[in-house]
Amino acid sequence: MCGIVGILNSQSLKSEAIEILKKLEYRGYDSAGISLFSEQKIKTIKSVGKISNLEKKSKNIKDKSFSGVIGHTRWATHGVVNRNNAHPFANENLTLVCNGIIENYGQIQNRYKEIPKNIKSDTEVSFYYLSYLIDKYKDSDEAIKVFQKTIRGNFAFVIFIKRNNCFYILKNGSPISISNKNQSFYICSDSSILSNYHDTIFHCEDGDIIKIYESKISYLQKKLKITFQKNISYQNPYDKGDYQHFMLKEIHEQPSVLKSTQSKYTSEYFVDFETKFRHLFDGDKIVLVGCGTAYHASMVGEYYFNHFTNKEVSTELASELRYKKINKNKQILFIFISQSGETMDTLMALKYVKKMNHKSIVITNSLESSMIREAEVTIPTYAQKEVGVASTKAFTCQLLSLANLALEVGRMEKTISNQIYKTNIGLLTKLPSKIEKLIKEFTPGAKIISKKLAQANACYFIGRNIAYPIALEGSLKLKEISYMHSEGFPGGEMKHGPIALIDKDTITVCLIPKNDLFEKSVSNAQEISARNGKIIILSSVRNMSKINGEIKVINMPKENIIDTPFIYTIPLQLISYYFALYEGTDIDQPRNLAKSVTVE
Ligand code: M6R
Repeated sequence: MCGIVGILNSQSLKSEAIEILKKLEYRGYDSAGISLFSEQKIKTIKSVGKISNLEKKSKNIKDKSFSGVIGHTRWATHGVVNRNNAHPFANENLTLVCNGIIENYGQIQNRYKEIPKNIKSDTEVSFYYLSYLIDKYKDSDEAIKVFQKTIRGNFAFVIFIKRNNCFYILKNGSPISISNKNQSFYICSDSSILSNYHDTIFHCEDGDIIKIYESKISYLQKKLKITFQKNISYQNPYDKGDYQHFMLKEIHEQPSVLKSTQSKYTSEYFVDFETKFRHLFDGDKIVLVGCGTAYHASMVGEYYFNHFTNKEVSTELASELRYKKINKNKQILFIFISQSGETMDTLMALKYVKKMNHKSIVITNSLESSMIREAEVTIPTYAQKEVGVASTKAFTCQLLSLANLALEVGRMEKTISNQIYKTNIGLLTKLPSKIEKLIKEFTPGAKIISKKLAQANACYFIGRNIAYPIALEGSLKLKEISYMHSEGFPGGEMKHGPIALIDKDTITVCLIPKNDLFEKSVSNAQEISARNGKIIILSSVRNMSKINGEIKVINMPKENIIDTPFIYTIPLQLISYYFALYEGTDIDQPRNLAKSVTVE
C-alpha cells in the first residue's frame, strides 16, 4: 500500500511534497517522511502518524538548496509502526521509498552479511541491499539493474543516488506515474493527483526502470522513447465544504452522482448496447469479482443477473479467485468491480483471468487506474473522487452500473420484455430524488439509533435475497468506522449457528423489504426477538405489530427489486456514520485501514 511522491526542480519542494502526501493519506497514515536532496546532501525527516505531524516536524527546514524531494506515507505491512520503519530509508548517498511488498526480502537478508539481521521492514532490507550493490558496482545504473532483477513482488520504488546525481523509478505491479514540463518532474503513485501540476503524464509499466538525470528522462533497460500524453484534469475533491467529514459529504453526494452516472449510461454509454457489448456476453458464464464493499456490489450484481437474465452467474472474492483453478475450456466473462481500480487483489485476479484468455470488464470509478489499462472493456462509474476510507457513493454507483448492465443483457437476450426494461430504467432514473428524500428524512432517526447502539455489545445485520449483501455491507460500514463488533448474515442462516450469539446485549438490524421472502424474513426477526435480542426492523411494510419484544421499526419507502439495495443501503450508512461520530472515532481515516489496498 502506501503513497509515494517525488519532485524534481520545483520552487517549493517541501510544501508541495507535503501537500501531495496529504492527498495520498488515503493510502495509509501509519507514518510519513520526506528526503530532500541535491548533488551535495540528503536530508531526511520522518514521523509517526499523520502527515500533519510530519508537517510540524519539518516546519523549520529550508529547502532552497535542494534540487529534489521524495516522500512517503505508510500503511504498515512488515515491521511495526515506528519512526525507524517509516520511509524514506536513507544514508549520505542513497534515499528511497517503496510502495508494495518485496516477497523475497527474507532470502536477500539471509544471503548478505551487509544487511542487519534484526530489521523487519522489507523496504529497509531492500535499502541495505541496494547500498551494498552501489558500493559493489562502480556504475550506479548497473547496481539498479541488478537490484531490480533480484527483488520479487509487486512494488514501485523511487530512488535518489547522490554519487551520480541520478533519480530512478522502478515499477512492478504497483502504480506510479510521472508528469513533466521543461526541467520539472512530479512523480506520484496516484496519477489523478498529478493533474494539478502538469498537463502531460506518463504511466510507468511493469518492468520499467526509468532514470532522470540532468532533467533528461530515459529508460534504463528498454530502448524506447518515453512519450508523455495529455493528462485528464480533476476537480479538487479534497474540500469538505460545510460537512464535518468526507464520509457525510459523500453520503449526501449520492443523489447527484447517481443522477449523472445514470444519465451518462442512458444517453451515451449503453446506447447501442448490442453492437458494443454482444461479443462479451456470448459465453457460458459470468463471474463477478471484487473485494470488501466492491465484493458486496458484486453479490448484488449476481442477484440482478439472476433476476433479469438466464445467465449462469456467480461471485468471487478477488483474493481467492487468483489462486483457484479456472476452467480453460469454458468461455467465462469476468466482471471486476473496484472503486480505485488499484486494489492489488483485484488487479492480480484480472491479470490472471486475462492470461487464461477469458473476457473481462472492469467497473471502476478511477479513469486513470491500473485496471483501466488492463481491462478489455471499462464501464466507468461517475461517483467523482471518494476520499473517505469507507466507501459510500462509489458503492451505490457500482450498484447502478450492475443494475443497468443486467437490464441491458436481459433485453438483448430477450429474457425481459421492452416494457420491463423501460419500467426498471424509469425506476433507476427516479432513484436520485428518492435517495435525497431518504437521507433527509432518515438522518434524525439515525442519530437516535446510534445512541441505542452505544448500549449494545455487538450489532448484527440480517437480510435475505438481494437484501443479504446489503446486510453484509451495513456490517462492514459499522465495524470499519466505529470498531464495534458486527457481522452480517443471510436471515435464513441464523438458526444454523449464529443465533447462538444473540442475547439481550445485542442489536440486530433486520432488512425486510416487501418481496417473496417477506414472511420468512419476519419470522427470522421474530426468532431473534424471542431470544431477548433487541431488533431494529427496516421495512416498507407498515404493520409489524405482531413481532413482540424490544423492537424499533423504521418505515422505508416502497421498493422494487432493482432499487431495494440502494434504498436499504442509505439508512445503514447513516447509522454507521452517526454511531462513529458518537463514539468519536477517526471517521474518514479509521485505524488500521487505507482507502486503496495496493498490497496482497
Ligand atoms: O478500490 P476498491 O473498490 O477495489 O476497494 C475494495 C475494498 O478495499 C474497499 O471496498 C473497502 O472494503 C472499503 N474500505 C469499504 O468501505
